[in-house]
Amino acid sequence: MRDLQHFDVSGALLDWYDRHAREMPWRVGPTDRAAGVRPDPYRVWLSEVMLQQTTVAAVRDYFHRFTARWPTVAALAAAPDEAVMGEWAGLGYYARARNLLKCARAVSEEHGGQFPDSYEGLIALPGIGPYTAAAIAAIAFDRAETVLDGNVERVMARLYDVQEPLPGVKPVLKEHAAALTPTARPGDHAQAVMDLGATICTPRAPACGICPLRAPCLARQRGTAPDLPRKSPKKPKPTRHGHVYLAQRADGAWLLERRPDKGLLGGMLGWPGSDWSEAPAPSPPFEAQWRELPAEVRHTFTHFHLILRIHTAQLPETMAPDGLVIVDKHAFRPSDLPTVMRKAFDLWRGQ
Ligand code: ADE
Repeated sequence: MRDLQHFDVSGALLDWYDRHAREMPWRVGPTDRAAGVRPDPYRVWLSEVMLQQTTVAAVRDYFHRFTARWPTVAALAAAPDEAVMGEWAGLGYYARARNLLKCARAVSEEHGGQFPDSYEGLIALPGIGPYTAAAIAAIAFDRAETVLDGNVERVMARLYDVQEPLPGVKPVLKEHAAALTPTARPGDHAQAVMDLGATICTPRAPACGICPLRAPCLARQRGTAPDLPRKSPKKPKPTRHGHVYLAQRADGAWLLERRPDKGLLGGMLGWPGSDWSEAPAPSPPFEAQWRELPAEVRHTFTHFHLILRIHTAQLPETMAPDGLVIVDKHAFRPSDLPTVMRKAFDLWRGQ
């Protein structure tokens, strides 16, 4: 049957998923899945937090490192903040890491180390919003919750040929997704829609010829699939500027700064520096023979581009200015720095 009203969308998706599900470190394998084995809620939660605004390819290695170091939610809850922020460095959106720890501690201290098994229980936890609560409830506990991410939005916009632009049309796409959510295997259904969006119903050049939903898909019938979902024009990003100061002592120690918990890069280590604005004045954190490198850091955040000038200095071994963190030569790991600060270090090293 070609008619969308009479086509078993979820049945077709689940058949396809049983043959083509992507292997991921937080999923159970095909044999276990067929036997109804559920994945570990801790791993589902961790993966879903990491996957927000981040691709599967970028997440994999982080997921392996986190679960090797902290195999359970209790282990993560007991970790020092700096260790978790350091492991998260490079993944971006650092509020996720601070909330991750808050959530792990809440699950350990208030829920006996067990994640709640419903949307309502999950959304009451710190750092778990509607998307993550629905995803964990569906994937880890097989609750019939509707999971809506960018992939699902695209699949729904095409299946129903929705022409109105995002983000305004989101509630309509959610209704379509909700109407398709089955009571049988809702967790696999949710992941099937996401996998379909990631591998077949892709943003550009969707592979409609091999899509399990090609028969009922309205955009496919009308030739509109590559244009969907439409998006309202985005505001152009402004460019901000700043100065950073990389100072190393004669004993090899580095002078860094722990950024305040609130705000961009909150809780992360970084180089001290100016504020980021249209034309900030140089503002060395202490007096030294500063030398400016003939190279700048360029980095793009969600809402602005940033250009940083880099100043460097060599300091005597005794230098220990107030408010800075002195990181021993052997303890310093550039991988503990957020990407923008790491870029400054790499430029210094390249000189
Ligand atoms: N993106 C976010 N979560 C996902 C999941 N569980 N499966 C596939 N893609 C995803």
